[in-house]
Amino acid sequence: MGIHINPSILSADFADLTGELQRIRNADMAHVDVMDNHFVPNLTFGPPVVERIHAVSPIPLDAHLMIEDPDTWAPVYAEIGCQSVTFHLEAAAAPVRLARELRAAGARASVAVRPATPIEPLIDLLPEFDQVLIMTVEPGFGGQKFLDVCLPKIRRMREAISASGLDVMLQVDGGVSASTIERAVDAGANVLVAGSAVYGADDADAAIASLRATAERVAEH
Ligand code: DX5
Ligand code: ZN
Repeated sequence: MGIHINPSILSADFADLTGELQRIRNADMAHVDVMDNHFVPNLTFGPPVVERIHAVSPIPLDAHLMIEDPDTWAPVYAEIGCQSVTFHLEAAAAPVRLARELRAAGARASVAVRPATPIEPLIDLLPEFDQVLIMTVEPGFGGQKFLDVCLPKIRRMREAISASGLDVMLQVDGGVSASTIERAVDAGANVLVAGSAVYGADDADAAIASLRATAERVAEH
């Protein structure tokens, strides 16, 4: 289970995204939070801005779509060139059809669940996905506290992935920091999103390296 550290640019300076993306070039992917002010009570950016972020980013993009009607919009992010596209299970009308469309467009298909959404409906659908994202905050804002109540769900999903024998990544997003990453990895997460913990640090490069070292140490056990 390889560890991936994907900083969230939600905590970056939006007026200097080119420079902010250079700060995280030692990360695996740049996590791009798309919010529509309907699925979540916050608004970020849409396809034209993500297309420019893709053009200037030194690392691949991990799009996290916190939007309504992903059935219509998610494939657009795959076509723009995002290497991974995550849509929310709660918002999708036809998650299997959408996952197949994302793969057909060349992206990794990923599905997210909010803290109160059960993962059990996804277990039989795992062959359709390359990644599952378990939110450890209510989506919408950076800088919130990690919800430990989500840990059993991460553990159950890791067990289901192991039992399936499939190569599905398990991403955790929200409140991941030096003090919570050990618990997330111990529960089975291997893709860690961190916004404020990376962009709030003076040295983003060192923050990424430190998160990675801690996660790899825990994953080895
Ligand atoms: C929250 C976003 C997260 C957010 C994480 O809705 O999906 O990606 O940027 O920020 P931190 O790491 O500060 O909780
Ligand atoms: Zn996110």
